[in-house]
Amino acid sequence: MILKGKEIVLGVTGSIACYKSVDLVSRLRKLGANVNVIMTGNATEFVSVITFQTISCNSVYADMFKPIGIREHEIKHISLAKRADIIIVAPATANIISKLAWGIADDPLSATVLACRCTILVAPAMNESMYRNPILQENIRKLKKRGFRFIGPASGNLACDEEGEGRMVEPEEIVEEIVALIGVKQDLEGKKILVTAGPTREFIDPVRYISNPSSGKMGFALAQEARDRGGKVVLISGPTNLALPDGVKFMQVLSAEEMEKEVLHHFDDSDIVIMSAAVSDWKPSVRVKEKIKMKDELNLRIESTSDILAELGKRKGKRILVGFALETENLIKNAKEKLKEKNLDLIVANKIKGNYPFGSDTNKVVFIERNGKVTSFPKLHKSEIARRILDRIKP
Ligand code: CTP
Repeated sequence: MILKGKEIVLGVTGSIACYKSVDLVSRLRKLGANVNVIMTGNATEFVSVITFQTISCNSVYADMFKPIGIREHEIKHISLAKRADIIIVAPATANIISKLAWGIADDPLSATVLACRCTILVAPAMNESMYRNPILQENIRKLKKRGFRFIGPASGNLACDEEGEGRMVEPEEIVEEIVALIGVKQDLEGKKILVTAGPTREFIDPVRYISNPSSGKMGFALAQEARDRGGKVVLISGPTNLALPDGVKFMQVLSAEEMEKEVLHHFDDSDIVIMSAAVSDWKPSVRVKEKIKMKDELNLRIESTSDILAELGKRKGKRILVGFALETENLIKNAKEKLKEKNLDLIVANKIKGNYPFGSDTNKVVFIERNGKVTSFPKLHKSEIARRILDRIKP
């Protein structure tokens, strides 16, 4: 869904166009957004709080000193401002526009807007004479200069049997603009994306295994991002403590051998394959059936697991292949060699320092592409790294 995971704050002010904003909330929710509505006192004279509460499935913020449904100690206008991806003021009266232009913060909506750093979209709605008033026009220009975006007003029927410029644009149009501003690109629609994640476990006996500290966070973030961009995603993962993402075909595996079997099974009709799993390079030559006792002498013979990605590289065809390189030294040199040996389009190199980035929500990575292009990134959230990987390789 195009607005999945997006936090939208809708400010509703006192205009007859308020009723259209009920439809706006419904449309935004259908596209996956979470919508929090803030109403001014005048807006509540046109449409009741309960209407917006019901349609948004969130409590409505209408009184600065009687905020509903908030956690203790939470300052509602600050917390809403912090988490919003966008604030829309629709309908926006002449009064709120002028208040915003002058930095007044004496109601829940103007206080939230003053506290926010995200994109603000304003959809004016008022009588034509008010809209054309030079004072209001000056305030609009002032806000535009400060980065506020405006949509409309449209021309047509106005309240009190008047005609002219001043109608709030239709909810469909506002939704289109919001999608253009913050929507998730649907550039993987119709594509099958195979992602591997997490560690593998190579059992020595029923209670002991060879493994690594991979948390699976990077692979899960990739699967979620690919799904949000319209891709059909298969996620093959070793053991992790992460919640299974919705809308993704999930296959749980344990050993490198099981992972290889599942990957090969799903490989043929995949368009993009991203091996972010930390596959164990070794496995015990035999798995002892009964628990090895403490007093027993342990003679461990280990052998290499098969290199899944190298095998995929041989069968690559037109598929896009992405690998990861975990290194403690010679990051770029080693990663470049892996890219070549495994026949990849992109390798995401990351350096291990102590335990970092194992289990962390962030990582500092370098992209190396087939054409030799090297791009280093600062420390980023793994969901942001996932976004950049898919941006780089989308077909
Ligand atoms: N990989 C794989 N099968 C393995 C080992 C690794 O498919 N048996 C994949 C990983 O998923 C990763 C890439 O190969 O995308 C590189 O993994 P990495 O552990 O960095 O390197 P290795 O190829 O294992 O080489 P080395 O351990 O010598 O650095």
